[in-house]
Amino acid sequence: MSALEIHLDDQDLDRTLRTDVATGLTAAPKWLPPKWFYDARGSELFEDITRLPEYYPTRTERAILTARAGAIARISEAKTLVELGSGSSEKTVLLLDALLAHGTLGAFVPLDVSASALGEAVDRLAGRYPGLAVRGVVGDLTRHLAYLPDGDNRMVAFLGGTIGNLVPAERAEFLSRLRAVLQPGEWLLLGTDLVKDPAVVVPAYDDAAGVTAEFNRNVLRVVNHRLGADFDVAAFDHVALWNAEREWIEMRLRATSAQRVHIRDLGLTVDFAAGEELRTEISAKFRRDGLSAELAAAGFELRHFWTDPAGLFAVSMVQAVGS
Ligand code: AVJ
Repeated sequence: MSALEIHLDDQDLDRTLRTDVATGLTAAPKWLPPKWFYDARGSELFEDITRLPEYYPTRTERAILTARAGAIARISEAKTLVELGSGSSEKTVLLLDALLAHGTLGAFVPLDVSASALGEAVDRLAGRYPGLAVRGVVGDLTRHLAYLPDGDNRMVAFLGGTIGNLVPAERAEFLSRLRAVLQPGEWLLLGTDLVKDPAVVVPAYDDAAGVTAEFNRNVLRVVNHRLGADFDVAAFDHVALWNAEREWIEMRLRATSAQRVHIRDLGLTVDFAAGEELRTEISAKFRRDGLSAELAAAGFELRHFWTDPAGLFAVSMVQAVGS
C-alpha cells in the first residue's frame, strides 16, 4: 500500500518562494536559498552532477552505505525508516534491503518538498517491497518534522550532505526540532561531507563540463518562470568559493555587467552592479569533533562515524539521548 500525505501544496510553496525572493534580493549582500534550484530541470541537473568525475560526495556516500548497511540494520533494529529529502532511491534501497533482511522494518516514510518526485519514488518502492508500508509525506524538512509517523524505534535518514546547506544557526534549530520529535534511543543516520583540501572540494562545485554552473543559474530560471521575472540568465557567471574560516563552499552568481531585474509578481525591481554577487548556496564541510559537538548541543550522541578510506565523506549513526 502506498499513499501521499500533503502538508505543503503549491500555494504554500509559492508563498515561501515569494518571501524568500523578496527577502534575499533586497538584502545586502543578496542571496537566495538553495532549495529553489530543484524544479524538474534543476533536479535533472543535480542528477547529472552526481555522475561528474569531480563530484565525489554521492558515490562516496553510496560506497560507505554499501559497506555499512548491515551494521546500520543490526545496530538500529529500526522498525520505521524516515528519509528526509528525496535523495536518490538507489541509496534508500541499500538501507531498505538491509533492514528488511534483518527483519525489523515495517514502514518506510520518505518526506520531500516535491510531490511529483515523491509520488514516483513511493510507487516504485511500494512495488518493489510489497510487504512494506510506504507512506510519502510532502513537506518541508524544516517545517514538517511534526508529521513524522508515530512508532517506536524509528530511524531518520538525512543523507547526501544536505545538512551542510543549512547555516550553523539553521542546523542547530533543525537538529533540536528533530530531537524534540524523537524518543530517547531513536536514531538519526546522517551523511556529511568532510573538510579536505580545497583543491578537491572546489572542482566538485566548479566542474570542467559546466554542469554545476548551469545548475546554479537554474535558480534564476526558476524565479523567471514562477514569479514572472526577467533575469538575463546568461549575464551571470558561476562562482564557487572555498570559505576557509567557515569551512564551507559558497556558490554565487556574479553579474557580468550592471543589470536591472524586474520581478513582476512581486512588483519588485532589483539592481545589480557590474561584478555584484548573489549567494545561492553554502555547502558546509564537517570535522568529527565539530559535528559531535553540534549534535550533543541538540540532545544527540554520535555513536558511529564511518568514512571512506580517503576520508572524503562520513555517514554517522546518531542516537537521541534523554534530556
Ligand atoms: C547534495 C544537495 C547537499 O551541497 O553538495 C551539488 C547540492 N550543489 N553541487 C551539495 C549541490 C552544488 C549538494 N547537496
